[in-house]
Amino acid sequence: MGKLDLCVFASGRGSNFSALLEAIDDGRLKADVRLLVSNNPEAGALTLAKKYRIPAEIISRDSFSTRDQFVEKLLTTLNHYQVNFIVLAGYLKKIPKEVISDYRHHIVNIHPALLPAFGGKGMYGHHVHEAVLKAGCKVTGVTVHIIDEVYDHGPIVAQKCIPVENQDTPETLAARVLKYEHLMYWEVLQLFAEDRVQVRGQQVFIRV
Ligand code: GRF
Repeated sequence: MGKLDLCVFASGRGSNFSALLEAIDDGRLKADVRLLVSNNPEAGALTLAKKYRIPAEIISRDSFSTRDQFVEKLLTTLNHYQVNFIVLAGYLKKIPKEVISDYRHHIVNIHPALLPAFGGKGMYGHHVHEAVLKAGCKVTGVTVHIIDEVYDHGPIVAQKCIPVENQDTPETLAARVLKYEHLMYWEVLQLFAEDRVQVRGQQVFIRV
């Protein structure tokens, strides 16, 4: 797909955003972050954007009287910054279907478990790791997937298995998983930058 002109969507602290910026800075990931979008004015990701002089927009459904106005704002903003690929990095809202359809197969998400297990509404942050421990799983992991209209669903591009240890708490597990998220997300994006990702139905094939 040539160069990735990214918009990153983030609602929170932005550690994945930070890891991507570092990968771009040291040349591992060939991409430009043209824009950060957040729904949350308190997001740590906004501070990072400022530090890296990346334009940031706070676009929240609550600030618009109609859904259509909100969607229109998102689409015109993405267009204005000439974004060709969207990266969700801890974005806690659903992406409107109009955006998904304009950027079909060009929006990815990172999830801190092995989808399709432990995903869906309410499965974010510590809830995911609590559920994994409660279920007695011996492994968990990271999933990077292309999004579709269903929450935490869509063609899986990459997964990494991570062991659950006897003494794990939601916090220790979260920390172990997050470390791999940071190692993995840029690598997967680089596959898109190199045009090596082919989607057929729910399956993704990586060209060697
Ligand atoms: C990560 O665990 C990611 O998998 C999930 O949200 C969390 C975001 O963390 N989608 P951060 O804001 O990138 O630190």
